[in-house]
Amino acid sequence: MRTLWGGEDLAFLLRCCSLLLLLASFSHGADMPTGSSLSPGNQAAPWLSPNSTFSLAFAPSPSSPSLFVAAVTYAGGVPVWSAGAGAAVDSGGSLRLSSTGDLQLVNGSGAVLWSSGTGGRGVAAAALQESGNLVLKNSTGGALWQSFEHPTDTVVMSQSFTSSMNLTSGNYAFAVDRPSGNLTLRWSSSSSGSGGGNAVKYFNKGYNSTFTGNQTLTSPSLVMQSNGIVSLTDTSLSSPAVVAYSSNYGESGDMLRFVRLDADGNFRAYSAARGSSSATEQWSAVVDQCEVFGYCGNMGVCGYNGTSPFCSCPSQNFRPKDAADPRSGCERKVELVNCPGNSTMLELANTQFLTYPPEITTEQFFVGITACRLNCLSGGSCVASTALADGSGLCFLKVSPFVSAYQSASLPSTSFVKVCFPGVPNPPLVAGGGSSGGSSGLRAWVVALVVLGAVSGLVLCEWVLWWVFCRNSPKYGPASAQYALLEYASGAPVQFSYKELQRSTKGFKEKLGAGGFGAVYRGVLANRTVVAVKQLEGIEQGEKQFRMEVATISSTHHLNLVRLIGFCSEGRHRLLVYEFMKNGSLDAFLFAGADAPKMPWSTRFAVAVGTARGITYLHEECRDCIVHCDIKPENILLDEQHNAKVSDFGLAKLINPKDHRHRTLTSVRGTRGYLAPEWLANLPITVKSDVYSYGMVLLEIVSGHRNFDISEETDRKKFSVWAYEEYEKGNIACIVDKRLAEEDIDMAQAERALQVSFWCIQEQPVQRPTMGKVVQMLEGIMELERPPPPKSSDSFLTVTTATGSTSGASSSMASTFASSALVAPMSTPNLEQQMAVGRSASVRDREIASHPLRSSEPYMTM
Ligand SMILES: *[C@@H]1O[C@H](CO)[C@@H](O)[C@H](O)[C@H]1NC(C)=O
Ligand SMILES: *[C@@H]1O[C@H](CO)[C@@H](O)[C@H](O)[C@H]1NC(C)=O
Ligand SMILES: *[C@@H]1O[C@H](CO)[C@@H](O)[C@H](O)[C@H]1NC(C)=O
Ligand SMILES: *[C@@H]1O[C@H](CO)[C@@H](O)[C@H](O)[C@H]1NC(C)=O
Ligand SMILES: *[C@@H]1O[C@H](CO)[C@@H](O)[C@H](O)[C@H]1NC(C)=O
Ligand SMILES: *[C@@H]1O[C@H](CO)[C@@H](O)[C@H](O)[C@H]1NC(C)=O
Ligand SMILES: *[C@@H]1O[C@H](CO)[C@@H](O)[C@H](O)[C@H]1NC(C)=O
Ligand SMILES: *[C@@H]1O[C@H](CO)[C@@H](O)[C@H](O)[C@H]1NC(C)=O
Ligand SMILES: *[C@@H]1O[C@H](CO)[C@@H](O)[C@H](O)[C@H]1NC(C)=O
Ligand SMILES: *[C@@H]1O[C@H](CO)[C@@H](O)[C@H](O)[C@H]1NC(C)=O
Ligand SMILES: *[C@@H]1O[C@H](CO)[C@@H](O)[C@H](O)[C@H]1NC(C)=O
Repeated sequence: MRTLWGGEDLAFLLRCCSLLLLLASFSHGADMPTGSSLSPGNQAAPWLSPNSTFSLAFAPSPSSPSLFVAAVTYAGGVPVWSAGAGAAVDSGGSLRLSSTGDLQLVNGSGAVLWSSGTGGRGVAAAALQESGNLVLKNSTGGALWQSFEHPTDTVVMSQSFTSSMNLTSGNYAFAVDRPSGNLTLRWSSSSSGSGGGNAVKYFNKGYNSTFTGNQTLTSPSLVMQSNGIVSLTDTSLSSPAVVAYSSNYGESGDMLRFVRLDADGNFRAYSAARGSSSATEQWSAVVDQCEVFGYCGNMGVCGYNGTSPFCSCPSQNFRPKDAADPRSGCERKVELVNCPGNSTMLELANTQFLTYPPEITTEQFFVGITACRLNCLSGGSCVASTALADGSGLCFLKVSPFVSAYQSASLPSTSFVKVCFPGVPNPPLVAGGGSSGGSSGLRAWVVALVVLGAVSGLVLCEWVLWWVFCRNSPKYGPASAQYALLEYASGAPVQFSYKELQRSTKGFKEKLGAGGFGAVYRGVLANRTVVAVKQLEGIEQGEKQFRMEVATISSTHHLNLVRLIGFCSEGRHRLLVYEFMKNGSLDAFLFAGADAPKMPWSTRFAVAVGTARGITYLHEECRDCIVHCDIKPENILLDEQHNAKVSDFGLAKLINPKDHRHRTLTSVRGTRGYLAPEWLANLPITVKSDVYSYGMVLLEIVSGHRNFDISEETDRKKFSVWAYEEYEKGNIACIVDKRLAEEDIDMAQAERALQVSFWCIQEQPVQRPTMGKVVQMLEGIMELERPPPPKSSDSFLTVTTATGSTSGASSSMASTFASSALVAPMSTPNLEQQMAVGRSASVRDREIASHPLRSSEPYMTM
């Protein structure tokens, strides 16, 4: 309890008094008639909304304190709209409603910088509404112009952002695409010079697959609901489609919620408490800030220092354009035109030059890393190139005058930047600078070793100190528990300490199983919730990437997916905490022999459909397309009601892309029966690889046999091969699990399941249906044709030709699947530029995603 009046209290009192005075002297909410004006000097007279929730006044410009911006701000000071999109005037400027009814922003010199364009249309007054909408009205109150229809960078609650509007911030623009309803972010070079018309769409995402597929929207608009859900409305939608949940959605209170295109090119949702001058981020559209094109300016390289994005220059051949502004980009110390014929390509490991449509179609080639370097060196207009090392064999040549790079230890690609001879790479360690220009390689090494030694010594010291003094300090426990509680309340995954998990699993005693990514233990949380704790192995990714993947996994909610409750990332420990599934995994029901628990046909079928729905959600409906890569009965768990829940999704991405162990591990561990042929043929892994695995599981659900079992009963053939032969002969009943013999099985359903399964295990990825179609076929919504033999007689690699026609077994059904394959065909490379031998287009072309960036990459990088 405070007993004395502190300075703060006094100041607060004074502020209250002046506010009261203000309220008394200005009839807030009243219409401002024509002829009214606002000016920076006259700050005591803002235009207020009826309850003073919003005010319109001049505020110092963020770029220069001597200039002013006329802005509508929420109580507390969060700006939501500005006249002329942030145009700044000097202290002699004003915002005036002219006698003709035009709202004008005027500079001290008298120049009109912005106007509403309503002169002579009968505007009688301006009014700021309680919603924050600035309205110009005629004499009968009809709105002739409103700021809600001319947003700048922000959209608030009760405002509707339609597809004909855009938000802008610096070089960035946000829009809702019609008719797809996709949210799009674009970068364009506004400034003169660098060959105008340069625009890059670095974000384009549909948030509800039901209408990103075929349905077209007539008038999509984005709305920030007062409960914190960002949604998309349209006349053709019966209810709004969810774009994103604010992390504090559903929380009530006197606050403003809004979405904003920030100056860093990201689109975010915020909330701000009344009276607070700052807003709290609740969601961001671009998860990985370094994927925002141009974030670090031209030639800038974006990376992470801890968790915050950090800009640097590609090499010492560059210097920052503006040393005070890390985002200003880099310029060459010697321009390329000044060293004709004497340039070189400097290698940048783990770096990718960002490439987005429409660039993507004209500058990509199938060439190896050496050709990727040489092609750029000899191409006059090429300034940099990126060779993807993700198995796609792609090379991008950058000819644009503006390039933007991303560097991260987890990026498999190698880039090259063209510089004047000689290329001087950045020093390997960012340590105090002072290296003398890379002439003495030995000295650099010695310096590096000494620094490394010193740093590890320090770390060791600190660790010992911590161990000695803080390990048992009680203050960490309650604090972290409280933090966990807060985080849980906001819907984010809970972060556990390793100790907590050790305690809740009683020292990792009760092992539930061992999956491909590590062992799973039973645990009981402090609030008595039973959980499954997975101890990940072989994760060599950094903290940042791990957290990003955890965020993706935990934002993936579906009835048929196991829910991630929390995680632990401490030192080398990486653990995931999942909800516990009472009835274990599906394999126990299918393969445990005579004493296995019985699972009636209806349950089996429900499990098959549920699993398919879960995978469909991963592939098609959730925010980041996830390829599971390890679908098998062991990864299909059952809850008390025997609902199927797919587990272990999103983990494939966690494995270090350079770690080839996983691929071999998987095959060695006996899940080979579920791996699609493209795994073994070293071809790209796509969602269709999951479809193959699902097909095998479906066959096993019907038959109760492992697909790779070989026995006398199956004529010494693999069960899946034998099953197709029996199916062809019409012997459905002999494929179905014998343990279901006493039951009255719906044979039509069983036959349908078998047919779907044979479609899924087609050797050619294009002939397999998508998971969405699988659900429809199982449910009988979609007609089914007879599946061709899964293994075609031709060799896998040579079947498909460049034109995309499929051989032999092609049927109308197969071509339906083919046309709905993930990706549009790529255009052929520009012949003029194609110096090295490009690989001829093959089946890969259609299967490879057109967007080679990590977050949307639909296949695992190897
Ligand atoms: C202003 O506040 C009063 C009292 O809190 C409330 O009754 C009224 O509805 C508010 N007006 C508006 C336009 O929100
Ligand atoms: C407004 O006037 C000031 C000084 O009179 C000038 O520095 C500034 O550039 C002007 N702003 C615009 C946008 O013309
Ligand atoms: C005011 O505007 C409304 C709607 O735009 C219109 O219906 C009305 O006729 C206008 N009134 C006058 C007096 O112009
Ligand atoms: C935003 O919209 C305005 C008009 O609605 C248009 O003039 C402008 O070019 C658009 N900006 C971008 C970047 O699309
Ligand atoms: C909408 O976004 C999805 C990805 O979410 C993309 O596949 C599709 O091509 C986009 N549609 C349009 C018209 O850009
Ligand atoms: C997609 O839309 C077109 C035209 O609206 C229609 O002809 C076609 O059948 C639709 N396709 C699917 C798969 O719904
Ligand atoms: C997607 O849209 C459909 C109808 O257009 C709607 O029924 C469904 O609930 C939406 N899904 C989400 C997640 O908003
Ligand atoms: C990374 O962050 C740390 C602490 O925030 C800072 O000391 C260091 O200088 C940063 N590194 C670089 C390269 O800026
Ligand atoms: C390129 O420039 C370097 C020094 O700037 C010089 O030593 C070298 O001979 C030049 N090479 C050619 C081919 O001109
Ligand atoms: C127990 O805590 C976990 C995470 O902290 C949470 O997911 C779960 O819902 C809680 N259970 C109950 C019954 O409160
Ligand atoms: C499945 O869960 C239910 C409810 O916990 C239990 O009664 C049943 O015995 C379980 N079945 C098996 C096979 O574990």
